Amino acid sequence: MSATKVDAPVLALDGPSGAGKGTIGQICALKFGWHYLDSGAIYRGLAWLAHDQNVAADDVSGLVNLVDAMVLVCHVRENDVAQIEINGQMVTDKLRTEEAGEIASQIAPIPEVRASLLNMQRRCRKAPGLVADGRDMGTTVFPDSEFKVFLTASAEIRAQRRFDQLKAKGFDVNLARLLESIQARDVRDSSRATSPLKAAEDALVLDTSDLTVDEVVTRILNLVN
Ligand code: DC
Repeated sequence: MSATKVDAPVLALDGPSGAGKGTIGQICALKFGWHYLDSGAIYRGLAWLAHDQNVAADDVSGLVNLVDAMVLVCHVRENDVAQIEINGQMVTDKLRTEEAGEIASQIAPIPEVRASLLNMQRRCRKAPGLVADGRDMGTTVFPDSEFKVFLTASAEIRAQRRFDQLKAKGFDVNLARLLESIQARDVRDSSRATSPLKAAEDALVLDTSDLTVDEVVTRILNLVN
């Protein structure tokens, strides 16, 4: 047990972009009555703030200053994506764009940025529990979490899912370009030196390519119960 261990249990849900972490994580959080942390939204939120305030993606001290002034609130709703509020502005749709994802993926490898975001994420661990979705929840942010699940799926299936989601929201998207961008992001997220995307040794690895949302949720409920 680590010195930072607190009472609230954590379900760490990691995996690549489009593996279903957001959908599954929010269903689990609502079923358990736990808090939900969308850590990708934190990276996307910082990317959006940087873009909005003309801070370059390689300006390390500028990015850390933005983190210090960033207040992010995640509102979970039944049958809807979590609504993200940053510094008082509702920015959910702005964060889901490919551009925000791209900038997020450029700033995510910077060790000083990751370090400055650690406490913000750890503060979300509150009773009665937390579902934390991301890349390094089980390995770095909450290494002592009680439950660890690593969700994955083929890049083609993940690209198709993202395509369907964006299309449904009225965005003009191209499937081949989405696939390329997902593959490039996988390489960047997995090969960075600080907290790369990888399953914790004690994580349950679930390939969701051929599973329905209900099937994945049932497996996670069985694990937690
Ligand atoms: O899960 P997502 O697509 O919203 O994440 C956006 C980017 O943020 C992704 O390229 C990787 C990065 N990220 C990260 O490095 N660590 C996390 N815990 C969550 C996201």
